Amino acid sequence: MRVVIAGGHGKIALLLEHLLAERGDQAIGLIRNPAHIADVQKAGAEAVICDLEAASTDDVAVLVSGADAVVFAAGAGAGSGAPRKDSVDRGASALTAAAAERAGVRRFVQVSTMGAGRPPQPGSDEVWAAYITAKTAAEADLRSRDLAWTILRPGRLTDAPPTGRIRLAPPPVPRGAVPRADVAAVIAALLDNPGTRQQTLELVGGDSPIAAAVHSIS
Ligand SMILES: NC(=O)c1ccc[n+]([C@@H]2O[C@H](COP(=O)([O-])OP(=O)(O)OC[C@H]3O[C@@H](n4cnc5c(N)ncnc54)[C@H](OP(=O)(O)O)[C@@H]3O)[C@@H](O)[C@H]2O)c1
Repeated sequence: MRVVIAGGHGKIALLLEHLLAERGDQAIGLIRNPAHIADVQKAGAEAVICDLEAASTDDVAVLVSGADAVVFAAGAGAGSGAPRKDSVDRGASALTAAAAERAGVRRFVQVSTMGAGRPPQPGSDEVWAAYITAKTAAEADLRSRDLAWTILRPGRLTDAPPTGRIRLAPPPVPRGAVPRADVAAVIAALLDNPGTRQQTLELVGGDSPIAAAVHSIS
């Protein structure tokens, strides 16, 4: 399987690239900083320079053309302000999804977040509100497209070692944390299970082995 990962130097993305390479799949990480090429290659993926806040739909369509799936794992990240929540968490996701549609790559997994899907709580911090608004808009954009999409909403991300055990279900799932390594393994399993298309799934740590959890909702 050839998988293009938008935001290819992100923490989840690097873990996913490693898992895909280990099982013989081909991963291509779209990154904006040439200094990140070596890390992406070390994870077993091909690195392609593409700034998703500057590229056109056609630019990205060329890069995803011929892939079996696209994963959107980019994000403006901690420390960014409201404008970049919109330009990355919403804008870059919509751009990548439009490019996949244009290139005829139907399978698309979007990393969203728990908390998306409803307006931010009144009185929320301005940047948090912009983040939730951007993720909610990115989800809505993806649902409107002619793609075999899966929206994955992880809870609070940690860098703990993988547990292999999760709780994965359509919303609402009670809030919780989940290691990025388990999120990466869930994405790899979602790519294997097209029966999860047109589903929005929330993810936290839990008791179910990943393969069984993904299979049960396929
Ligand atoms: N933190 C949490 O608890 C939490 C919870 C649920 C969901 N999430 C979401 O999970 C996703 C992945 O999380 P993570 O921890 O793996 O994220 P991360 O390590 O912050 O990675 C995000 C990646 O996106 C890239 N990116 C930003 N702007 C870009 C652009 N214009 N073009 C190309 N790439 C760009 C960044 O590259 P640069 O290094 O060049 O900036 C970075 O490598 C994010 O969407 C995040 O919002 C987070």
